[in-house]
Amino acid sequence: DMGGHDTYMHKEISEQPDAVDRVLRGRIDDRFSTVHLGGLNLDPREARGIRRVKILGCGTSYHAGMIGASLIEGMARIPADAEPASEFRYRNPVVDPDTLYIAVSQSGETYDVLAAVQELKRKGARVLGVVNVVGSAIAREADGGVYVHAGPEVCVVSTKCFTNTVVAFALLAVHLGRIRDLSVTDGKRIIEGLRRLPAQIEEILKGEEDIKALAAQYADAKSMMFIGRVRGYPVALEASLKLKEISYIHAEAYPASELKHGPLALIEPAMPTVAIVPDDDLLEKNRAALEEIKARSGRILAVAHREQEKADHTIIVPKNEDELDPILMGIPLQLLAYHTALALGRDIDKPRNLAKSVTVE
Ligand code: F6R
Repeated sequence: DMGGHDTYMHKEISEQPDAVDRVLRGRIDDRFSTVHLGGLNLDPREARGIRRVKILGCGTSYHAGMIGASLIEGMARIPADAEPASEFRYRNPVVDPDTLYIAVSQSGETYDVLAAVQELKRKGARVLGVVNVVGSAIAREADGGVYVHAGPEVCVVSTKCFTNTVVAFALLAVHLGRIRDLSVTDGKRIIEGLRRLPAQIEEILKGEEDIKALAAQYADAKSMMFIGRVRGYPVALEASLKLKEISYIHAEAYPASELKHGPLALIEPAMPTVAIVPDDDLLEKNRAALEEIKARSGRILAVAHREQEKADHTIIVPKNEDELDPILMGIPLQLLAYHTALALGRDIDKPRNLAKSVTVE
């Protein structure tokens, strides 16, 4: 049942305010400005002993894990990074007892992720799951974890689950942070930011008609560049994956700083750039990248907190706390991919060559 929507993708994009509300519900502890996660199975002493965090996932879940790593490293001050689960499995990684491993999966059935979890467990590692489907293979195999509570995701391409996974990571980051070095003030600041998300997502969704009009202007592109810096880079990666998956337009994502090390050669009027430009400490650096693109006559669509002079078009999103901005900046780009694919007449809920859960190697 699509509930009045033409596609599951559109339904699921629209459901995000409620979905985010659900992942937050019952987990916030205002008294201590922290977060309770019932299924974590990690006591405070164990949480203090973690020396590193390694996050494993595939595709969109890997991108959500990249943002998760930066949230955990930033708030809990534990070195953290994300890696595609398949790469991790095949490189004979050092498995360290003081590392917390986190497997991320919407379906909970992705073979590469499951196999990585099983290998880690066999070697004695502690593995948590950040999973959507309750009782799925990865959820059962993990030592504990956080359910993402996005609700059933039917469309092959992931949208609401991406958003909810990042929010789940923010909750985990506050939880770990408040056991370690995150101050009460910062805990409170992030919690208040999380609570603002559903209404802000609602506001972004109201801009759909404008995004649809923009999609019509960019749908003729053969190829598109997506750029972002630090927190914005995984947003660029995810937006480029969404566009490729459903519109079949070729897209690349680069850290904005890497443009000058090669990819600037591609910039010309026929290769538009989507730039993630939050109002944070990197704003001036991001603006410099826009100038470099303009100097080569590249078309620019910016996703920003205010109008960007160098951009041909700007999609303005509401500002949250710097740490949580990536969550909001991803949402208009789901709509951009959606309306681009629609303008090109693609079968949005059933993109070619993809399956909802990839249970093969
Ligand atoms: C993207 C997409 C895939 C999945 C990937 C992992 O829209 O659907 O990239 O994200 O196959 O799937 P899960 O999260 O179920 O492990």
